[in-house]
Amino acid sequence: MDKQSQAGKQFYITTAIDYVNGQPHVGHSYEKVITDVITRARRSLGESVFFLTGLDEHGQKVQQAAQAEGKTPQEYCDELAQSWKALWRTLQLSNVDFVRTSESRHRQVVQATLSKLQSTGYFYKAEYRGFYSTRQETFLTEKDRLPDGTFDPIYGEVTNLIEENYYFKLKDQQQWLIDYIIANPDFIAPDYRRNEVLGFLRNNTLEDLCITRPAARLSWGIPLPFDADYVTYVWFDALVNYISIPAAHGDPLLLEALPELKFEPRGLSLWPADIHVIGKDILKFHAVYWPIMLKAIGLPLPKQILTHGFWQKDGEKISKSTGNIVDPIAVINEWGIDAFRFYVTRELAIGPDGNWTDAGFQSRYQAELANGIGNLVNRSLSMLKRYRNGQVPEKHSELAQDSAIAVAQVERQFRANELQGALQTIWSLITRANQYVDQTAPFKLAKDPAQAQRLDEVLYNLAETCRIIAVLTWPFLPGTAVKIYAQLGLGTIPERLADARWGMLKPGDVIGEPAALFPRKDQPKTS
Ligand code: MSP
Repeated sequence: MDKQSQAGKQFYITTAIDYVNGQPHVGHSYEKVITDVITRARRSLGESVFFLTGLDEHGQKVQQAAQAEGKTPQEYCDELAQSWKALWRTLQLSNVDFVRTSESRHRQVVQATLSKLQSTGYFYKAEYRGFYSTRQETFLTEKDRLPDGTFDPIYGEVTNLIEENYYFKLKDQQQWLIDYIIANPDFIAPDYRRNEVLGFLRNNTLEDLCITRPAARLSWGIPLPFDADYVTYVWFDALVNYISIPAAHGDPLLLEALPELKFEPRGLSLWPADIHVIGKDILKFHAVYWPIMLKAIGLPLPKQILTHGFWQKDGEKISKSTGNIVDPIAVINEWGIDAFRFYVTRELAIGPDGNWTDAGFQSRYQAELANGIGNLVNRSLSMLKRYRNGQVPEKHSELAQDSAIAVAQVERQFRANELQGALQTIWSLITRANQYVDQTAPFKLAKDPAQAQRLDEVLYNLAETCRIIAVLTWPFLPGTAVKIYAQLGLGTIPERLADARWGMLKPGDVIGEPAALFPRKDQPKTS
């Protein structure tokens, strides 16, 4: 499809789809929050953004868990999907759609993809003899044995298996992918993940990918359209979610590539994805198998695979079985949703691994939220209320330059997905404004009628800086940003970066009621 027909393309961003039977923890929540922040940042820049997240529902573990509870897999997934969706609502994700791989719209696209690749000769059927881990739903080879001859306990029981399956030919696909990754330096981010994939591709020969499981062993999956004895292997099923939802929305590029689909063409152009946000453990699936699948279907590759690191808690792996978890809901109930969103994006850049500590969380809450943004907004607006009855004074531009520099920097950081960096920039403006209060001492000016004009100037500078800070923080702390706007008496939402222009607060307007944004917690609970 030429550039012309892609002119109306929306910015399309996705997250990994979580295993429905997993325990939602800080790792899953982090990924969804950073994707939401990127989404809102792009919207703030004026782009139309389609944000997709969802659930990966098929596979043996789900089938077994449902059976153990006396439910059908569909009933079991329907119940769990409700609690995932509720969590994402609590996190204030602004996703446009939510995919579940057990939905018919997804199944149709997986089957159309399989039919196309079967008819174009990408698959073959062969007998497999070897080791199989039910827990990981994966085949193992001699190479997977530990030095003592056993398999890693993460694989659970490893059995000997002889089985016929379908395979996807990958052998001739290595070189073009290496060339593509070299020619497109932004395709895999950050750089060190790109190098990791290149190293893997250069030093290994890709094994053909097994894309089925016999239906006799696993019924909870998408049936192969050309052989009812098989269902689709979970990864082949799951990755397709990134195109199945755009196809169901009528993306013309996808309907052209998969002509057997019967969805209404609706002119909503999404593919290729602009960003797939994923964790480092699933990089190979996204940076090796997925591009090869797409090329075989005849589709362009996503523009970027943005790979984040892993969270630990207190320096240890997050694990339900050892009880080492961070429950996002418990944190949100105690500290508020914006405190959670702030901590995860401020603490960890997109790339390296991070470590959650309750003490670190509490100290950022006190220093940066309660004493930083909270204190600035509260004292600025309270003084305006007290000294000027809440009426915005004449314009003044003493903080205009500091603010313009921060806005320009944040805009660049939004475009580069530097979320942590953008928060640092915003907080340097907050610190500057808090120092400005201390330096200009409006509470002293208020005592001297001869300083009335100076007090007006200071109060305008502070109120306008608070307004700009609301606009800048909106992608990260949407609830807080909206509260700041309401306290300023503005009836709109601070959702456009263009509104971070100095001087939009109108003299004569009357602000609303100041109220604490992040109440101080002087004796923080330790958990
Ligand atoms: N279902 C697959 C993904 C299919 S995408 C087509 C899967 N699911 S998962 O539930 O195990 O993981 C979902 C996402 O959460 C992945 O991107 C994974 O990297 C991320 N995280 C899981 N644990 C994590 C941490 N401890 N820290 C950060 N992210 C982590 O994989």
